[in-house]
Amino acid sequence: MKILLFGKRGQVGWELQRSLAPLGQIVALDHAGDGSLCGDFTNLAGLATCVRAVAPDVIVNAAAHTAVDKAESEPELATTINALAPGVLAEEADRLGSWLVHYSTDYVFDGSGTTPWREGDPTGPLGVYGRSKLAGEQAAARCARHLIFRTSWVFAARGNNFARTMLRLASERDQLQVVADQIGAPTGAELLADVTAHAIRSARQCPDLAGLYHLVPGGETSWHGYARHVIEYARQAGQAIRVAPEAITAVPSSAYPVPAPRPHNSRLDTHKLQAAFDLILPDWQLGVDRMLMEILGQ
Ligand SMILES: NC(=O)c1ccc[n+]([C@@H]2O[C@H](COP(=O)([O-])OP(=O)(O)OC[C@H]3O[C@@H](n4cnc5c(N)ncnc54)[C@H](OP(=O)(O)O)[C@@H]3O)[C@@H](O)[C@H]2O)c1
Repeated sequence: MKILLFGKRGQVGWELQRSLAPLGQIVALDHAGDGSLCGDFTNLAGLATCVRAVAPDVIVNAAAHTAVDKAESEPELATTINALAPGVLAEEADRLGSWLVHYSTDYVFDGSGTTPWREGDPTGPLGVYGRSKLAGEQAAARCARHLIFRTSWVFAARGNNFARTMLRLASERDQLQVVADQIGAPTGAELLADVTAHAIRSARQCPDLAGLYHLVPGGETSWHGYARHVIEYARQAGQAIRVAPEAITAVPSSAYPVPAPRPHNSRLDTHKLQAAFDLILPDWQLGVDRMLMEILGQ
């Protein structure tokens, strides 16, 4: 199997390089490409040429414009990267009879209510990023053989992330205020990559599995609950933590005004994925604790 992976240096792309390796030959590109192959999602003609040159059995797209607030002031760029480029990949993959694997987000929903969103629920993105990602998943679905995974709150040990920020602040400050009215599930890039590899194998055996799936771990929390979990883990691991547990206070989203509104209800229902691929999704704490072990050098 030949796999063409885009966005190889992102959180998910990095883990995909590991999880896809046993499936076959991987051509992995970042935004700069590799000299002869274009990996730049703002160069739509270059992308089409790249796919034709590689002629992969599977395209996995982990590239995206993920700067949610910045997207508000650069909607054209966000739309090109998140919607037009996946459209080109879909067209080229479909022409080759290949699979296209693509990632989307809870930001396609308006965040209302408290019920976990199902795949068929009405969408209603609140900002540019969500709108561009919704257009992107619709474009990706134009390839008959598609797997689209909507996920939320992605983290990885590599690079900056929410947990690292909380650990730094918890070692510097006596008080922390963290948003408590957005509910979702922190999702490890490792989990996304591992499930992707499993799903590709299954879907190649059974093309009827093509479709849109929600992919997040089990359980739910708020950013406040997530922060408390991270800080408590670090305290028990003997890290120098200054803030006391009761000094980590819950605040509403309105305490931190940002250009792009966030959905309050980011819960995603994963029954469809678990049934289709015969998988059990572990609770979010498992992945977060593994990431903490790694960044705390345990
Ligand atoms: N992060 C989250 O919390 C979250 C939540 C829900 C869904 N998702 C979705 O999950 C997927 C993976 O996200 P992630 O967290 O792994 O993202 P990430 O770490 O921000 O990585 C995104 C990658 O996209 C690449 N990229 C940006 N502009 C590009 C361009 N013009 N051409 C080619 N590549 C470009 C970047 O590559 P270079 O470094 O080479 O520029 C970067 O490595 C995305 O579809 C995202 O929308 C993410």
